[in-house]
Amino acid sequence: MIVLKSDQEIDAMKASCRLAAQCLVMIEQHVKPGVTTLELNDICHEFIASHGAIAAPLNYKGFPKSICTSVNEVVCHGIPNARQKLKDGDIINVDVTTILDGYHGDTSRTYLVGHGHKPLALKLVKCAEESMYRGISAVQAGGRIGDIGAAIMEYCEREGFSVVREFVGHGIGKGFHEDPQVPHVGLRGKGARLEPGMTFTIEPMINEGHWKTKILSDGWTAVTIDRKWSAQFEHTIAIRSDGSVEILTVVD
Ligand code: MF3
Ligand code: CO
Ligand code: CO
Repeated sequence: MIVLKSDQEIDAMKASCRLAAQCLVMIEQHVKPGVTTLELNDICHEFIASHGAIAAPLNYKGFPKSICTSVNEVVCHGIPNARQKLKDGDIINVDVTTILDGYHGDTSRTYLVGHGHKPLALKLVKCAEESMYRGISAVQAGGRIGDIGAAIMEYCEREGFSVVREFVGHGIGKGFHEDPQVPHVGLRGKGARLEPGMTFTIEPMINEGHWKTKILSDGWTAVTIDRKWSAQFEHTIAIRSDGSVEILTVVD
């Protein structure tokens, strides 16, 4: 069941989304060689709490920390850890989900750690970001969910990368993960109709190698099957009552 939101409800959601986006801006200066992923977690947790919000991942289905930190071959749902220090040349996705006044805001970015990156990693991160924006551009009232995945997949595969199938974007609102599912691969013209009042994430995970993933024994960390690297970007978006498409997870 898809919960449609009024413009007023979307405005309330936007406050949560804005805070999540501000958290990603705030944490950028801390993403440096030598920092641990637990330190990044604790800084984000404090930022979110001090703004009167809740970090949604903490205790969500047993997830033990407040953000997800996914480094290099980790596709998503990496668990912050005191023994995991970032190194020059790493890439790390920080995924922040806030709950403010009952509404979720969900956004993530992949940061480059330090300066010495392999060219393929730079190309991968650029492709992941551009593919998210192409997915967002494919959204229109009256269109279909499949339009989004088609736009993302066609672009990434042309660039020589693959698109993860096992994790998808999702409806969002009072619930963290609402209907509909938003696959990042698909067929144009297929799937549920896109309508005013819908709020959902687009969060493509793009791999250097094969799209397949596996979950480590901690029950959360998803890695690429071939251990090649993966990058992800995520925004929460809304379709307003007038049919306009708005990115909610922005700092303005
Ligand atoms: N923020 C992730 C998403 O984009 C979900 C994280 S669930 C958690 O949907 F439990 F791992 F935090
Ligand atoms: Co999400
Ligand atoms: Co997220």
